[in-house]
Amino acid sequence: MTRQILVTSALPYANGPIHLGHLVEYIQTDVFVRFQRLRGHRVAYLCADDTHGTAIMIRAQKEGRTPEQLIADMSVQHQRDFAAFGISFDHYGSTNSRANHDIAAGIWRNLRAQNLVVERSVDRLYDPVQKTFLADRFVVGECPRCGAAEQYGDSCEKCGATYPATELKNPRSVHSGAKPELRPSAQLFVRLTPLQPMLQEWTQRSGALQAEVANYLAGHFLDKPLQDWDVSRPAPYFGFEIPDAKGQYWYVWFDAPIGYIAATREWCERTGQSLDDWWRKPGVEIVHFLGKDITYFHTLFWPALLHVGGYRLPSRVQIHGFLRVGGEKMSKSKGTFVTAAKYLEHLDAEWLRYYYASKLGNKIDDLDFQPDEFVGKVNSDLVGRVVNLASRTARFVEASGLSARYPDDGGRFARAAAQREAIAAAYEACDFREATRLVMLLADAANEYVEQKAPWTLKKDPARAAELQDTCTVVLNLFHQIAVYLQPVLPQLAAKAGALLGSSCDRWDLVATPLVGRPVAKFEHLMARVEPDKVQAMFTPELSAAPASAPPAPAASADDGATLTKEPLAPTITIDDFQKVDLRLARVVAAESIPEAKKLLRLQLSLGGGTTRTVFAGIKGAYAPEQLVGRLVVMVANLAPRQMKFGTSEGMVIAAGTDGEVFLLSPDAGARPGQRLH
Ligand code: 2FM
Ligand code: ZN
Repeated sequence: MTRQILVTSALPYANGPIHLGHLVEYIQTDVFVRFQRLRGHRVAYLCADDTHGTAIMIRAQKEGRTPEQLIADMSVQHQRDFAAFGISFDHYGSTNSRANHDIAAGIWRNLRAQNLVVERSVDRLYDPVQKTFLADRFVVGECPRCGAAEQYGDSCEKCGATYPATELKNPRSVHSGAKPELRPSAQLFVRLTPLQPMLQEWTQRSGALQAEVANYLAGHFLDKPLQDWDVSRPAPYFGFEIPDAKGQYWYVWFDAPIGYIAATREWCERTGQSLDDWWRKPGVEIVHFLGKDITYFHTLFWPALLHVGGYRLPSRVQIHGFLRVGGEKMSKSKGTFVTAAKYLEHLDAEWLRYYYASKLGNKIDDLDFQPDEFVGKVNSDLVGRVVNLASRTARFVEASGLSARYPDDGGRFARAAAQREAIAAAYEACDFREATRLVMLLADAANEYVEQKAPWTLKKDPARAAELQDTCTVVLNLFHQIAVYLQPVLPQLAAKAGALLGSSCDRWDLVATPLVGRPVAKFEHLMARVEPDKVQAMFTPELSAAPASAPPAPAASADDGATLTKEPLAPTITIDDFQKVDLRLARVVAAESIPEAKKLLRLQLSLGGGTTRTVFAGIKGAYAPEQLVGRLVVMVANLAPRQMKFGTSEGMVIAAGTDGEVFLLSPDAGARPGQRLH
């Protein structure tokens, strides 16, 4: 029976790049989605950027642009990264969309109608000069625990303490520098106790949750009356204003998951389908994938909103652990915090898909990236045990094609086909470690057959040509079965395998019927081996020795004039000549490496007020992209645009340096983007 399955991954925040930690989830979801499609089910895979809240506001403000400009850029970056890893969304939306606003407003109306919204006064910090309430991150002061200066109102970066903003010592507003006052603010809360019986039933008895999650909720939340959920924030806030509460905005976590429905609506509008057919029709399965840190949002608040909105509850919430690297938390300074873009500069996306799949079980354990294991799994499992089946046989049948009838293979093909339900069950349970383990056993059996038949020996004897063709027919069929089984994990390898054998690998039941009497294409390289150095290079902190701000002053001996001798002063110009050059301060708001170019970084520069420029700068050897984002640089703002191989450069970044050295210039504190250098 064809199932109808709506699948989501958690919506990534629009204030940061996609990194290897995120990819544990997106790869896991994508494997599940591709598996379901392979089985012939009707699947919708939806996602969106999570765009609201103070973090986005602060970053946009720092970068001198509007939140809308920031989220538009991030959406492009995120979608580019996901596409590179083969994540096959049917639609990618944004929580800052009309659809999301309207669906949130509909749920809100129902909450009001069912008397589930209450208003209460809460004391919040207020900036008396700017006359606004202050979100936690707009207040700085000394940490109440360790006394560190310049800490935000929610947590201390030095000692890790978290606290209410009201506990900061000597607090001041980041806007005006004024001491914040406590003022009462009307806040809106959703009452959850009337929904508690429904949540009790769904979490404990519907089968939607992993057992450890259901137990955690029962022991930590549902054992007492649920607290009301604070869903409003006073202006200024980047989000949706609550339709019937002027000056109040929905808290980011109110409208974030509604983004799942909004993305579905946009996709339905684009493809002529009905939203209700996916979110209200009995029998549709709704499956959410997410990390353990956001469990209670998705297992208490979210089902509450769905229930009140008249939508179906999730049939499955699949929760996973965090990524660690070499047993430790990912860390920027150790170089183990690796963005998707950085991974791709060094390694192949399918390697990561396979590596993660081979380690993911159905439990909430963390997943540890171990470089040696990564190299071993790719080189020994994938290349050594799977790809080699084709590379050791396909060339021998390029001319003859596959045998006209499937030869006697001692029952090997039938045995591998008989494994299809066990492998499917493992995929269905999201136990991809088990699924890949079962497939690798099939690869071992196929390799034994290759060794036993030694086609390279048969090749030497023209009298045994028919036997050679039969042997290769068997091996390539076993390879084809494996490629179909691994298609959810390795879609590119499967596509290449299909092309090689004039077939495809895009239906699960292809494993049951051998391919015969068809040509075999010229053998093309299917997958490279990993070079261990490249994994090390990826985990090397980028130029951590070159500080982004104040570099150490060079020794006075460097002032000896040798530099001037090398590059003598230019002929005199007039002040008018100089005035023609419009030098401006600009903020780097995005920076990325151009993999094909040795020296170039693509920089997005903001001159403030929404004016931005794209500039290509030859500074890759000296600066890592992540070091640059947020800092000020000097640019030539009126240089005629230049068409380069990778795009148009709309200006030039000024740097000092002789003999290949590069030093960017920074202004003293207080300078702002857009200021001209006179
Ligand atoms: O934790 C996060 O990264 C959130 N942006 C996830 C949101 S998922 C959904 F609810 F929108
Ligand atoms: Zn502290």
